[in-house]
Amino acid sequence: MHKVFATAPGKVNLALRVGPPRTDSFHPLDTVFEAVDVYESVSATFDRSEISVTMSGKGQDLPTDEQNLAVKAAMALRASFGGSDGVHLEIDKRIPVAGGMAGGSADAAATLVACNELWELEASADELLEIAASIGSDVPFALMGGLAHGVGRGERLVPINADVHHYWVMITAADGLSTPAVFGEFDQIMGYRPVPEALVPDTRDLQRALAAGNASEIASLLINDLEEPAFSLRPGLRALYKAVKSRGMAAILSGSGPTVAVLAESKGAADQLAKELATEHPDAGIFRANGPVAGARVTEVI
Ligand code: C5P
Repeated sequence: MHKVFATAPGKVNLALRVGPPRTDSFHPLDTVFEAVDVYESVSATFDRSEISVTMSGKGQDLPTDEQNLAVKAAMALRASFGGSDGVHLEIDKRIPVAGGMAGGSADAAATLVACNELWELEASADELLEIAASIGSDVPFALMGGLAHGVGRGERLVPINADVHHYWVMITAADGLSTPAVFGEFDQIMGYRPVPEALVPDTRDLQRALAAGNASEIASLLINDLEEPAFSLRPGLRALYKAVKSRGMAAILSGSGPTVAVLAESKGAADQLAKELATEHPDAGIFRANGPVAGARVTEVI
């Protein structure tokens, strides 16, 4: 085998509750992730020793050195198995860069499953999740997919079984937002300083509504504590959010933004709303997404 193809999904957080920063400067979270059908595609070609990456689609301006999350993922996987094989990664990015949908984490997750196959490492799901957590807080969820409850810094996951289908209209901005900057603004607004241990508001009501499949209750429980700091950094985003909020069942900022996700009542309603918003907001990137969907997986081996 010398070439492996893999995909990994983007995400929205149906709820994202944030506590005061820990002493390691990460914020404790209580969150519900939903994987959506906007995918990063990675092809991994065997190399005798080098690890390298090229990016196409939305990723042309991203770093291709060791800061690249896919490169980090391949290096971390190789190091944990003590191997010397290399890989050339080609990533076709479809998820907006710095949009709050965990596109970089999806690159890393797809790379982990692709290289696990390419290098014939036979890493278990738990081993991959552990390596994923060392790369970034959202990487384990990009591996797992579906719906999950996340705690810690977002890396400790429990899957949620729920027979729900969500039809989203996503509105992106040309300029992304830096996740650390949004968390920093959150601390500023809340007057928070790092503390050894802190309580985080929980997401139990939403988890119960998901298990019960209660669509209107789910819609009423969408919440994101990073909305205020993201709006504070990007005032135009608040106006956009207000303008679209009443157009579906609910709207929510995706992760640390600036992507806004509008939840529609049905697939037809979402398709129609996407058309309308594309006309009304010609400068924004409007696209449809559906969730939940499966996590990172190998799609082809040559
Ligand atoms: O884990 P990841 O590397 O994706 O996080 C990027 C940055 O986002 C962190 O360096 C930190 O500033 C912020 N972050 C945070 N709390 C989290 C997750 C991320 O403060 N739970």
